Amino acid sequence: MNTSPTNQQRRTALRMIAAAGLAGTLGRAGAADAVKIGFLVKQAEEPWFQDEWRFADQAAHEYGFTLVKIGIPNGEKMLSAIDNLAAQKVQGFVICAPDVKLGRAVERAAGRQGLKVMSVDDQLVDGAGKPIATIPHMGISAYEIGKQVGNALVAEMKTRGWHQNDVGALRVAYDQLPTAHERTQGALDALKAAGFPMANVVDAPQAKTDTESAFNAANIAFTKQGGFKHWLVFGMNDEAVLGAVRAAEGRGMGADAVVGVGIGGSKTAQNEFAKPAATGFYGSVLISPKRHGYETAVDMYKWITQNQVPAMLTLTSGMLMTKANQADVRAKMGV
Ligand code: GLA
Repeated sequence: MNTSPTNQQRRTALRMIAAAGLAGTLGRAGAADAVKIGFLVKQAEEPWFQDEWRFADQAAHEYGFTLVKIGIPNGEKMLSAIDNLAAQKVQGFVICAPDVKLGRAVERAAGRQGLKVMSVDDQLVDGAGKPIATIPHMGISAYEIGKQVGNALVAEMKTRGWHQNDVGALRVAYDQLPTAHERTQGALDALKAAGFPMANVVDAPQAKTDTESAFNAANIAFTKQGGFKHWLVFGMNDEAVLGAVRAAEGRGMGADAVVGVGIGGSKTAQNEFAKPAATGFYGSVLISPKRHGYETAVDMYKWITQNQVPAMLTLTSGMLMTKANQADVRAKMGV
């Protein structure tokens, strides 16, 4: 009888040895590292934040850490989420706080629990409203991106041959948030530099940063300022602009009367561009949820595992996209 193993048996044995070795390696890494990272965002229902989470998940998958995602719509939920992270033995977290003035509270809670913290999107401020420079931050280059919005609005106004005296510029405003104020200020300055009459700018302050609040704010502003034939619309993000575009539609002003340019470029903008006919939502400056989600999570991972402190301030850029060139721009931005 032939007792030597067949080729098939040899291959099976080799595969089992290889698998055992791999499991051993993973087991050891898992036990030694067990890295857990929190990712807290103020508006979990907003497509931007869902994209950010999706890319953070991708980082977790690639680097082999656990990501704990929690929505924090208010200060109370934020503080209990930080305690919750500590209870789950998380070592650090990335946060976009519901109110940047909670900066010191975030710092204290993280310090008390021995957690590393970095902010994303909205930079935390101290009691005097100054950015807390000791917390690493990644945000968009708000003023520059706002200028891109303003330049796009002016260019489209010219393409359409509108006379600027007939054009109102609706600024959907949320000035208590510095990045929001900088964005709309950039747009305003671009309009001004192009010679657009500042007297035609109408403010629509929104109570919260969602589409419904923008819709309500824009309705009030349109009611007060009925005199303009055409409108340019801008605000802090796509939701702000979309709310105003919907309010304009309710007054019979569609794509031929309104040019809105948002900031973001995630699902809110994509859904609008996917409609068969153009709407007043003309464009959006696409920013990168991949950089904000993936990179911040990786930064935190390297901070925890290699004691590599993230860059203290990273400002990301954007690219104008419209219904016509969206696929191209998305490819260029890698999202
Ligand atoms: C803020 C806004 C979001 C998004 C991010 C981008 O947090 O609320 O909609 O624009 O900035 O950094």
